[in-house]
Amino acid sequence: MNPTIRFTPVAPHQAPELHQLYLDTPGYFDLLGGSIPNLGEVQRDLMTVVSDPHRHLELLHDARGELVGSVDYKTDYPEPGDLTINLLLIREDCQSRGLGQSVVEALEQRFAPQTRRILASVLGDNKRGARFWERQGYRFTLDARPVMTWYAKELGPSPTDARTLLSHPA
Ligand SMILES: CC(C)(COP(=O)(O)OP(=O)(O)OC[C@H]1O[C@@H](n2cnc3c(N)ncnc32)[C@H](O)[C@@H]1OP(=O)(O)O)[C@@H](O)C(=O)NCCC(=O)NCCS
Repeated sequence: MNPTIRFTPVAPHQAPELHQLYLDTPGYFDLLGGSIPNLGEVQRDLMTVVSDPHRHLELLHDARGELVGSVDYKTDYPEPGDLTINLLLIREDCQSRGLGQSVVEALEQRFAPQTRRILASVLGDNKRGARFWERQGYRFTLDARPVMTWYAKELGPSPTDARTLLSHPA
């Protein structure tokens, strides 16, 4: 059975919790060759989330209420009807238990009604991250290496497309 995950939008006062998640997941920041953001940087980033109507950052808790990850995504970006996942992060000691896959399935279900396509960006030379998205059915779409690569999955016509098809049948 898929693990249960609860999604909660992060409020600016929860910066310490998000920061602790980053501290508990050092391998990802090592892989990117950078340092773990400090608390001030996390606080500033959360303020930019509040000011960007397209950007959403959610904490992920398991059935016991433990913080196991975060997901950072944009709606209607880059095009209307697209959803772009900028970072899915599962706490290092919780990886490889199927949580990442459950999060992706839940997001796909939640956004299917208003979303035509989901994109995922993978920063740097992150082979495991790329393999993860391919396993979820996402296809390599855009090569912007060495900075990032993009993966995408079509979910079907958005409601707007469907209305257009109905009013202009072939
Ligand atoms: C990539 C990432 C999100 C995947 O999350 P995850 O929870 O580990 O993903 P899953 O458990 O669903 O699947 C990943 C692995 O677990 C294995 N797995 C899944 N369910 C399993 C289970 N029940 N038992 C054993 N292994 C399992 C998969 O085969 C896969 O193996 P691999 O990564 O060694 O190839 C996570 O590794 C992560 O946070 N990485 C750092 C950030 C990152 O790179 N994000 C991706 C770019 S946005």
